[in-house]
Amino acid sequence: MKFVPIVLLAVMAGASLGAAVPGAAGNGKNVAVVFASRYGSTEQTARWIAEGIGEGATVVAAASAGDLGGYDRVVLGSGIYGNRLHADMAALLERHGPAVKDRIAALFVVCGMPPDQAGGYLDMFAGACGAKPLLSRVFNGWMKKETLSPEDYRGLENYFRNAGYPFESYDHTDREKCVAFGREIRVALEGK
Ligand SMILES: Cc1cc2nc3c(=O)[nH]c(=O)nc-3n(C[C@H](O)[C@H](O)[C@H](O)COP(=O)(O)O)c2cc1C
Repeated sequence: MKFVPIVLLAVMAGASLGAAVPGAAGNGKNVAVVFASRYGSTEQTARWIAEGIGEGATVVAAASAGDLGGYDRVVLGSGIYGNRLHADMAALLERHGPAVKDRIAALFVVCGMPPDQAGGYLDMFAGACGAKPLLSRVFNGWMKKETLSPEDYRGLENYFRNAGYPFESYDHTDREKCVAFGREIRVALEGK
């Protein structure tokens, strides 16, 4: 019995937006998990979050996302570099922010700073979106010295030297936390 209204909602959502119904989530939503990532950990985080959202979630690179017109809801995620969003996410918001902002379900950032000290990045992100999402979260990513561009290598080497920390590769990604956030998003969308 529970499935009847859910299916109807999915059909209505598809009809009203002209969106493709195939691929709609169990809650009737097509959700794009959009990432902007320089070295891959934000993309990996987006994939784990999509796994938690489950059926109907599609992972999309910000650089090729367009105005995301085919999606009922969007989750936006960006790596942080020099205290700023990835340029592809900033460009997406610049170009398509007004079209997307009312469909933003959640925001996340992936950074090196401990999450309890990085709330300012989420505020900055929400400010750039002009929207207050249902949910937002800070995740830690990875930094692999051998993958850095020469410019990023020099920048980080200087940063760590000045901060008095060793300049060492790390991987602080946490699949479970990302999947759990995806599940939270799914539950939040069920009520919407
Ligand atoms: C050039 C550069 C600058 C960075 N600046 C910051 C920063 O300002 N604050 C921060 O918390 N992390 C910073 N980080 C760490 C990254 O946010 C972190 O490694 C993140 O996981 C990168 O995501 P990605 O793998 O998707 O590129 C920086 C990393 C690089 C390479």
